[in-house]
Amino acid sequence: MFYLRHLIFLILPAIAANSLAANIENGKALHDANCVRCHQSEVYTRDNRMVNSYAELHERVRQCEIMAEMAWFEEEIEDVVSYLNETYYKFDRIK
Ligand code: HEC
Repeated sequence: MFYLRHLIFLILPAIAANSLAANIENGKALHDANCVRCHQSEVYTRDNRMVNSYAELHERVRQCEIMAEMAWFEEEIEDVVSYLNETYYKFDRIK
């Protein structure tokens, strides 16, 4: 029992770090498989793009996800928002 408890303390931080890193990768995979049917990624970088804050980006991804009828979990939406923000939009998350 003693050893098991120590093992858990060793493993938990590794899992936490790993899932943080996986977020964006998972977001990219979800995005590339589901989100380039109606538009390509140029819409994220065009001059007159619609999205102007992190909150708007989240809302837009949610709207597009509903439109595409994919029934994602909030975590999957978050992963895609993180991926798009890291790759294209680069908003400050607090805004
Ligand atoms: C059913 C078609 C459809 C699908 C599938 C779709 N979108 Fe969209 N998306 C649109 C339309 C239409 C717009 C508005 C484009 C325009 O005004 O030119 C848009 C715009 C956007 C924008 C805003 C771009 C800007 O101007 O800043 C983002 C971000 C976006 N989509 C993300 C996604 C993501 C993420 C997915 C996958 C979950 C997705 N879209 C799937 C139709 C779709």
